[in-house]
Amino acid sequence: MTDAVENLLIELEHFSISNDQSTSVRTQRMLNITRDTGEFLSVLVQATSARRILEIGTSNGYSTLWLARAADVTDGMVDTIELSDYKLELARQNFERSGLKHRIVQHAGDAGEHLRTEKTAGLDLIFLDSERRAYAGWWPELKRILRPGGLLIVDNAQSHAEQMAPFRALVEADEDFTTCLVPVGKGEFLATRRP
Ligand SMILES: C[S@@+](CC[C@H](N)C(=O)[O-])C[C@H]1O[C@@H](n2cnc3c(N)ncnc32)[C@H](O)[C@@H]1O
Repeated sequence: MTDAVENLLIELEHFSISNDQSTSVRTQRMLNITRDTGEFLSVLVQATSARRILEIGTSNGYSTLWLARAADVTDGMVDTIELSDYKLELARQNFERSGLKHRIVQHAGDAGEHLRTEKTAGLDLIFLDSERRAYAGWWPELKRILRPGGLLIVDNAQSHAEQMAPFRALVEADEDFTTCLVPVGKGEFLATRRP
């Protein structure tokens, strides 16, 4: 598909490569999902008719744009949380340029604190791509806010398997959830809450 969003996504892919190669300072790196992960997220949003979508870890908004473009099809909204002021501003500018601003709500601050403010069972789909060591501590809230039948997708399940292990063990042991690992991009861990 060639449209304004597609052109912006391609531009951001080039930026991410050159930027992330030029610095080893983690807070300056975009650390975006891969394109095939974006395509996978887009299919998941549309196939599940997800409308209430939460992303944890906006960075400069690359993955948010994949979610928001799919949410435009489902008539949904993407709420996205980011800690870094620098990245919040980059994302804001990208959302402004994308024509999808009306599908996105940006939240500034710590995801752990934000999760406590979310409504119980209020979300259809959660995309988690943030501080991996915090995931296990966030699990009770993630579980609380995902609706029955809802879907959790977690990036870096293969690229950072060791860091993800405690979180995966918690989710896999939870009888309310069915899980799988999909070898797309950096490895996507999926968990759906039983209806
Ligand atoms: C891997 S990057 C996200 C990449 C983005 N999903 C994409 O593909 O375009 C992780 C982001 O999570 C943010 N982050 C780390 N800890 C956080 C926290 N406790 N709350 C909110 N954001 C956090 C980082 O600043 C960073 O921008």
